[in-house]
Amino acid sequence: MHFPLFPLLYSLIFLPFFSDAQTIVGNIKTGASLTATENNSYSWVSPSGDFAFGFHQLNTNQNLFFLAIWYNKIPEKTLVWYANGDNPAPFGSKVQLYADKGLVLSSPQGERLWSSEIGGGALVNGGLMDDSGNFMVLGSNSTLWESFKFPVDTILPTQILDKGMVVSAKQSGTSFGMGRFRLVFQSDGNLVLTTINLPSEHLNEPYFATGTAAGVSSSPGVQFVFNETGDLFVSRENGEIHLLTQGITASAKDFYFRATLGSDGVFALYTHPKSASNGGDPKWTSIWFVPDNICTASLVTTSSGVCGFNSICSLADDGRPTCACPKGYTPMDPNDEFGNCKPNFTLSCDVEKPGVAAEELYEFEVLINVDWPLADYALLEPFTEKQCRNSCLHDCMCSVAIFRLGDKCWKKKLPLSNGRVDPGLDGGKALLKLPKGPYIPSQ
Ligand SMILES: *[C@@H]1O[C@H](CO)[C@@H](O)[C@H](O)[C@H]1NC(C)=O
Ligand SMILES: *[C@@H]1O[C@H](CO)[C@@H](O)[C@H](O)[C@H]1NC(C)=O
Ligand SMILES: *[C@@H]1O[C@H](CO)[C@@H](O)[C@H](O)[C@H]1NC(C)=O
Ligand SMILES: *[C@@H]1O[C@H](CO)[C@@H](O)[C@H](O)[C@H]1NC(C)=O
Repeated sequence: MHFPLFPLLYSLIFLPFFSDAQTIVGNIKTGASLTATENNSYSWVSPSGDFAFGFHQLNTNQNLFFLAIWYNKIPEKTLVWYANGDNPAPFGSKVQLYADKGLVLSSPQGERLWSSEIGGGALVNGGLMDDSGNFMVLGSNSTLWESFKFPVDTILPTQILDKGMVVSAKQSGTSFGMGRFRLVFQSDGNLVLTTINLPSEHLNEPYFATGTAAGVSSSPGVQFVFNETGDLFVSRENGEIHLLTQGITASAKDFYFRATLGSDGVFALYTHPKSASNGGDPKWTSIWFVPDNICTASLVTTSSGVCGFNSICSLADDGRPTCACPKGYTPMDPNDEFGNCKPNFTLSCDVEKPGVAAEELYEFEVLINVDWPLADYALLEPFTEKQCRNSCLHDCMCSVAIFRLGDKCWKKKLPLSNGRVDPGLDGGKALLKLPKGPYIPSQ
């Protein structure tokens, strides 16, 4: 092993982030390996030092690691690719570059956890962690495998999605397994955001699409491109482009760019200053995103929406959804903001006591501009608000009534789905039926 001056200088200048002189820069020889040990001390770094390939230790379990690529010069550890999100590698696991097999990740017991498929018979000349964040397994005159062809939740400038390629969101910020949101560059040339019904890989109707499909569009899409200067576009057969990002002003010279599909279904473009002297906060900033409103985006009618059942989605300025349980409801899993909410009471028809008026048992919580558009079982019209309340009050199946458009009353039953705050509802009211006084605990 040799130690060129270059990486040594880097390790002196960026001591907090590169503390190890044994880091290999640029070309990786066959036979080279990395072992998953504490604090990611060994990695394969790109020539500029911007990206590193190696083991990322999980914050939630220090004995588990992902084989990953991350930004190597910024304090906030940001993974741009990982191999084994569903199957973290234990302490002591090893990744090796083999001449005949490419990269192989194996456990300390020698069990194969992951490998780069390079096709039978091909011979590996070496590996390269390049300055765009792409790790390549190189043959004598071709690239046999590259991380850019197997994106996880993030794509980087110069990365291209060919037809059929998919970007998959994580389950959550801390759970790296595949979640339910996908960005797909379809074989028909359309770029779509969609959900899948886990564990099936079936794609539901998209909640965002570029409309560049063959037959629909004048000239269909050929590739989805993230270009060097940070623009995202679909290139068309006739050479024109369908540009997604408009008016991006940050310069690729001074800023890192990445586009990530979040576990909340929002696909966003982020920038981060390359050095503190470039101004701005040294953190990731979202500068563009789709869809415009994930809370009201038409997700599948048969799912809960971006938030869980009985939950309410509201949109922050940066396009991110926040989910909250309404009064009387609590999260089923306190650690999962996007999970379902369960009522703190039972609204079963049995609990109604003979001789006790419904007025004494229930009251309404009024929520303005809130709706759960897909859970109604009855539409009553023309109704006054008072008639609407009364109808829900005396109907043991009614959990919420929506009173809107002057004289319309929609009665809804649990579970409520696709809940959202939507200013477009023009003051419409959600009348949430709750038991009066101490709640009858649900079993
Ligand atoms: C790893 O980091 C932890 C916490 O920062 C530290 O206590 C430990 O000594 C480090 N281990 C090695 C091998 O550097
Ligand atoms: C190099 O690439 C060319 C074109 O793809 C191919 O025809 C040739 O067989 C390759 N040579 C080797 C040694 O793999
Ligand atoms: C990236 O795409 C945008 C929009 O088409 C274009 O203006 C810009 O010149 C492109 N950058 C490069 C390096 O090709
Ligand atoms: C619902 O029940 C939980 C657990 O019993 C309790 O902590 C919470 O305060 C209750 N919420 C309401 C709104 O009553």
